[in-house]
Amino acid sequence: MPIPRSILTKGDLPDLDLRVVRGAWPSDISGHLVISTSDQRTHPVHAFFGDGVMVRLALEPGTDGAAPDRFAWRPRVIDTPSVRLRRRRPEVFTATRLGTTSPFGTLNAANTAPLPWGDRLFATWDAGRPVEIDPVTLAFVAEVGHRDDWAPALDAPVLPLIATTAHPVIDPERGCLWSVTRDVFSGELSVVRYDGSGRHVRRWRVEGVSFPQATHTITQTRDWLVLADTAYKVDLADDRTVTNNPDGPLVLVRKDDLESAGDGGAVRGSVFRLAPEVNHFYAAYDDSAGIRVVMEHTPGVDIGMYLREDDVDAFGRPIDPALRGMYCHGMSPALTTVLEFDPVKGTVTDVARLYDPSRYWQGRAVCHGLVLRRSARAHAPPPRLPGLPPRGDQPAGAAELRGQGRPFALPSRGDALRARLAGARLAQAAVGVGVDAGGLPDLARVRAAGTRRPRQVAVRGPRPRRAQRVPGRRRPP
Ligand SMILES: [Fe+2]
Repeated sequence: MPIPRSILTKGDLPDLDLRVVRGAWPSDISGHLVISTSDQRTHPVHAFFGDGVMVRLALEPGTDGAAPDRFAWRPRVIDTPSVRLRRRRPEVFTATRLGTTSPFGTLNAANTAPLPWGDRLFATWDAGRPVEIDPVTLAFVAEVGHRDDWAPALDAPVLPLIATTAHPVIDPERGCLWSVTRDVFSGELSVVRYDGSGRHVRRWRVEGVSFPQATHTITQTRDWLVLADTAYKVDLADDRTVTNNPDGPLVLVRKDDLESAGDGGAVRGSVFRLAPEVNHFYAAYDDSAGIRVVMEHTPGVDIGMYLREDDVDAFGRPIDPALRGMYCHGMSPALTTVLEFDPVKGTVTDVARLYDPSRYWQGRAVCHGLVLRRSARAHAPPPRLPGLPPRGDQPAGAAELRGQGRPFALPSRGDALRARLAGARLAQAAVGVGVDAGGLPDLARVRAAGTRRPRQVAVRGPRPRRAQRVPGRRRPP
């Protein structure tokens, strides 16, 4: 299904009274649906980096001021200190590839996910504290905790950058919000706990592990927090020159250990290594029979790659300018696993997996991860990778493969596995048909960290396939 162009509109966000145009509305549904989104009127470079908007959709007709047969759709910009400062001094705020900067510091967009907690509501962001809002009026209430409690990654006079998670969790038994904060330079982690009142949050350092990329998601069981390095690598270059790591650390932290460590203390978790990379994962809360986590693996997905006006698609067609700023997904088969972690034995068991390239792929028909740049840019040509057809065989109108410039340029240290994945994707773009990402089996290793050899190889990837060849084309090297 094509992406609705309206979600990237730069028009105003009026109250709407919606009506059902097809089918029948269920009579046994009530309450509200809340949606976080990004205000495109603030002209973010990446569509995800606009100011936070919360939308409240009534699920019963005739409520919230709507006519008897209509459903109230009520979007509100979250009136955070960041938004108020920008409103007063818009000229000093600058949209960048990594968010919005200003002399005050980095804007807390609070636009990523609604988080209900009883009758309270929070909005989240990867690079700022959770923001509490009134669930009825959607008015700003407060940012969670004192800024210094969170150990800002980049301090600033008013708007510190706090590297955290867009998916904190609410602990139903301890009555608290669990989150994390990360030092973006060292990768060191801390667990953060907010008890729901007061100006302060508590924080504990997690020793023995560092996360090199991000902490977009955390999850929990009754007794454990599950933290994993998520696949978004920051790149300060104009064009994206890095690839996300194909694997990363995962750490289990026992909640009781945090309590016994005391405020400001340190804990040591059970560390594993996980591949392929992930961005979202969800644990079963009941851990009486083991710690089980659903992992949405994201090989080939790079949220840091976004569309620009002069991009063309894999067939050489200019992209719809209405999609400018939209993120890209790599076109690779989707992989979802259920993994069971044993923090005592240090083992991981592959309980179940979903992998069916005939049915499930990452990406969308409109927002391909592979986008071709029409005009050559002033940088070196991309390296030859396994699976990359000769430049003369690239689709007409495509001068160069790209996400943001050189999406498949490898880190200088090289990474053969990554090259295999990239090569398969390049071949896919060139021939326009499905080609399996042949590197998956090699990436699908889970092992206990800190050992020279995998203690247990419990997760096995799909069997490799050869890239589909097009008659008359040279076989890739
Ligand atoms: Fe997310």
